[in-house]
Amino acid sequence: MLWSKSLETGIPKIDEQHKELFRQADVLVDQSKADRVESTLNFLKDYVAKHFSDEEAFHRSSNYPKADAHKKLHIEFTGGLKKKVEEFQKSTNKSSIILTINSMVINWLKEHIMRHDKEFATYYIQKQPPRP
Ligand SMILES: [Fe+2]
Repeated sequence: MLWSKSLETGIPKIDEQHKELFRQADVLVDQSKADRVESTLNFLKDYVAKHFSDEEAFHRSSNYPKADAHKKLHIEFTGGLKKKVEEFQKSTNKSSIILTINSMVINWLKEHIMRHDKEFATYYIQKQPPRP
């Protein structure tokens, strides 16, 4: 898996979900699971939606000032993913689209986590009351 420790935000729930997204993107291109591509794709789409909504709930509950801008990035990505999935459904060259979706998810996540999720995590962790 392409996950690395440097991608950790320090917020366990978010990190777990990120890891699961990386895992599912891997399953997508795993030849031994090729018969599950369609269901993995659906799972991935649903899981992305759940993950974004959980993250956005974190943003709101901590009054994150960049919540709206962050949400916009989520919406853009969701739109791009939806388009790719539609392309996949129509295409006759499905395996090449699957590879594209895999790299799209991984690359976007890496960049998004490093810049935007970590920025939020810094804000969020600072706001937590100190442990007794
Ligand atoms: Fe995010």
